[in-house]
Amino acid sequence: MAEDNWTKTQARQSLNRLLPKLERLAAEVDAGEWQVYVNRLGQEFPRLFGIFFHLYGDRYDFFYYLEELLVNMTEMWLARQADLKALDAARLIEPGWFESNRMVGAMCYVDLYADDLRGLRKRIPYLAELNITLLHLMPVFKCPKGDNDGGYAISDYRSVNEAFGTIEELQEIATELRRRGISLVLDFVFNHTSDEHQWAKRALAGEEEYQGFYRMFDDRREPDEYEQSILPIFPDDHPGSFTYRSKIRRWVWTTFNNFQWDLNYENPEVFNRMAAEMLFLANQGVEILRLDAVAFLWKKKGTSCQNLPEAHMIVQAFNAVAKVVAPAMVFKSEAIVHPDEVARYIHPQECELSYNPLLMALLWEAMATRDTGFLTHSLERRFAIPSGCAWVNYIRCHDDIGWTFSDEDAGELRINPRDHRRFLNDFYAGRFKDSFAVGLTFQENPMTGDARICGTTASLCGLEKAQAQKDDELVELAISRILLLHGVIATIGGLPMIYLGDALGFLNDYSFRDDLAKAGDNRWVHRPRFDWEKADERFDSGTVIARVFHGILRLIQLRQQHKVFSGMDTEIVDPKNKALLGYFRHFEDQTALCLANFSEEPQMVPGSHLRLLGMRKTFTDLISGKSLVAMDTLVMEPYQFMVLVKV
Ligand code: GLC
Ligand code: GLC
Repeated sequence: MAEDNWTKTQARQSLNRLLPKLERLAAEVDAGEWQVYVNRLGQEFPRLFGIFFHLYGDRYDFFYYLEELLVNMTEMWLARQADLKALDAARLIEPGWFESNRMVGAMCYVDLYADDLRGLRKRIPYLAELNITLLHLMPVFKCPKGDNDGGYAISDYRSVNEAFGTIEELQEIATELRRRGISLVLDFVFNHTSDEHQWAKRALAGEEEYQGFYRMFDDRREPDEYEQSILPIFPDDHPGSFTYRSKIRRWVWTTFNNFQWDLNYENPEVFNRMAAEMLFLANQGVEILRLDAVAFLWKKKGTSCQNLPEAHMIVQAFNAVAKVVAPAMVFKSEAIVHPDEVARYIHPQECELSYNPLLMALLWEAMATRDTGFLTHSLERRFAIPSGCAWVNYIRCHDDIGWTFSDEDAGELRINPRDHRRFLNDFYAGRFKDSFAVGLTFQENPMTGDARICGTTASLCGLEKAQAQKDDELVELAISRILLLHGVIATIGGLPMIYLGDALGFLNDYSFRDDLAKAGDNRWVHRPRFDWEKADERFDSGTVIARVFHGILRLIQLRQQHKVFSGMDTEIVDPKNKALLGYFRHFEDQTALCLANFSEEPQMVPGSHLRLLGMRKTFTDLISGKSLVAMDTLVMEPYQFMVLVKV
């Protein structure tokens, strides 16, 4: 946001006016330490003020809310533990820490992985075995019993789901993980609360103040107007985006499930209260904050109510708040939208990290078509992001796979986006003849023909079908596909994020159909319980599980041993073969060429082309350990992944 001179002057004057009050709060604090805080505040305040003024400046009580925000921030900073303040200082010296090749992320559900937080502590050695340095725990906070969208309906941001443990245990886990070199990633579910949150309950009891925390309407007039331009996200749950609550006789905005009430950020009180909740999370030791459903934060009639400029402002304001109080924590955006829009959240002053849904979708696209043309074309245009930021590269997460590629990019390649999405859904739902995949369609919308895909990496890569058919050759191909995808995310630039069970090739789990709380949401098919007995098969060499596990572990080690995988300097190349993906990685004076064969046929790269790519004389493939000569034709086996470096 541009801060003009007027705003800057206003900001300076407001801060000067408020500082004495803040100083009184911090009377006990060491003067030097306080000065560091005040300096950070001085640095971030103009932009925070600018945004706050833009959003709320026309309110008579603007200064009241501004003061409340600063007081909250200062109190949260005062409450921040010494070891976290030390981490703040360390990270300010090394802001790009998350771009290091050492970083490897994993995600899991606490209950499905280890029953509860106590169990999780006992399972840290497994994370260490895989060299994991970042752990994303799916939501652990208090939520409604029964269906709670996997914890994404939060009833209290400060207490842990009883079934998992206590807030003290969460803090202990964070400390213990940090001690072992693992950074904790948690969600900030800030677009909505559950309908059992105190605020929602008080709203339901008729308290107007709390009704103002949400978006509520007396009749269908406005919801109908909005619905002319918005698409339902969970059409299976409810057709539109609103839910009628007869107790208060009002329509409540519910983008996701009807028990998830969207917060109203037009109300500065909501921003302030949520800023405090965010800082509470930061003070538990969270190092990466995943911003859930960022696209939906602001609504405006006549628009899609996604990715509006004010949604960005809200995130930037939270970012400024965090940079003052808890600068060790960075933001990761979860915007699973058009790639142009995904990119707009990525900025050092907005979200330093972002999921890379385009890479995710197009890896699967290339796998299905055996053609990397669309992937290469899109990455060439869209992989680069601002410096100081990094992608989080993933094959799949706990959510469905949506085909979020750009229709314009598709058009340039004469691909009909609509038909192509239909083909991809058919392919991964296993409806397409000869498909290797076993998956389910998610939220099929008969009105638009849209659908997304659910399934574990292994099942979508063909392992489930191959094992059912007891076909060893197909099993081989499936394992190679799994490793190929992990090879790409481990090396392409940014942070790889692995779904923990995928590292053991876990298959789809259909038991969710027997659980009333889960049956309505088939994303549970790819969230299997972590089967520790099966996991032990990783010690029996030759088993499928051992091969997947050790294959992925080798890729992780390869990444961590070679500095060339640090940073985000990636150059997509044209391997002149439609089944191959190729990219150079550069870091300092090092270079590596990664090549991936997306087909079950061997593929050739002529020596002349290798030489054009600068691969002269001899080089080594770090994966197979073989030496190669650039005079010869390079033969890539089905689904082979290579990392070529000069010797
Ligand atoms: C995010 C989560 C998803 C959840 C939704 C609503 O997209 O990843 O699992 O359903 O937000 O919170
Ligand atoms: C949509 C939303 C995304 C959410 C997903 C859940 O794709 O954009 O935020 O995670 O739905 O299915």
